[in-house]
Amino acid sequence: MKAGFYQFKPQFGKNAANTKKIIKALEKVEAELIVLPELALSGYYFRDAKEALLLAEDPNQSANIDSIKNLCKKNNNYIVIGFLEKSKDKCFNSSALIGPKGIIHIYRKLHLFNEEKLCMSPGDIPLKVNEINGIKVGMMVCFDWAFPEVVRTLAMNGAEIICHPSNLVLNFCQQTMLSRCLENRVYAITANRFGLDKRPHGSLRFTGKSQIVSPKGELIFRALSQREACHYDDIDPTESHDKFITKHNDLFLDRRPEYYKC
Ligand code: ACM
Repeated sequence: MKAGFYQFKPQFGKNAANTKKIIKALEKVEAELIVLPELALSGYYFRDAKEALLLAEDPNQSANIDSIKNLCKKNNNYIVIGFLEKSKDKCFNSSALIGPKGIIHIYRKLHLFNEEKLCMSPGDIPLKVNEINGIKVGMMVCFDWAFPEVVRTLAMNGAEIICHPSNLVLNFCQQTMLSRCLENRVYAITANRFGLDKRPHGSLRFTGKSQIVSPKGELIFRALSQREACHYDDIDPTESHDKFITKHNDLFLDRRPEYYKC
């Protein structure tokens, strides 16, 4: 299958303009699965919870999410998009798996990063693996990379590809994901944004370098740091089925959970 990402620079608070940009970039894409960054519609650096709520989208009543759904229908493909999800008076840092028939699943980021804790609620739904055209995909969002339990849980539940919308500001994740993929023998597509969110309360620069990593921990492709990139490769998700790292070591069967107390 062809799978990849779109790395771009969302404009803060310009949800409709960001949606338009995504549609234009992905209109002619010939990939079955494309992953977009975290908070791809709203931008990232909210002043406070009140501002976040104003920019959040209720996926059941959002013209912007509807446009992404229409794009998937038109192209008969799947998009994973990070977005700020409004649910009653709360908002979540979420990721939606969308296909030709609409939203398949929404994941709510479990591990909020730094000041996100002041603006959003932590995820309240268990990790889940979904099937698209017989391919098993899991979702996690950005800072979830620092919790090895997330990829492990998704991989142990059969995920072949981890879709990883991100807005990374630290420099550790891209390299760490090579290990996450190797130790779980799973593909990961990290779609990061680049550029700056320059706000009155401060500025944040994002690191780009979106990437596709194989179940052998090999970097298939990494984008540049501060450049727009729409990239996809031919990958074989069944490579994630082989959990052997040596002839005598199946990384899942060799686990000794009875000795792990944490
Ligand atoms: C992050 O979780 N956006 C760093």
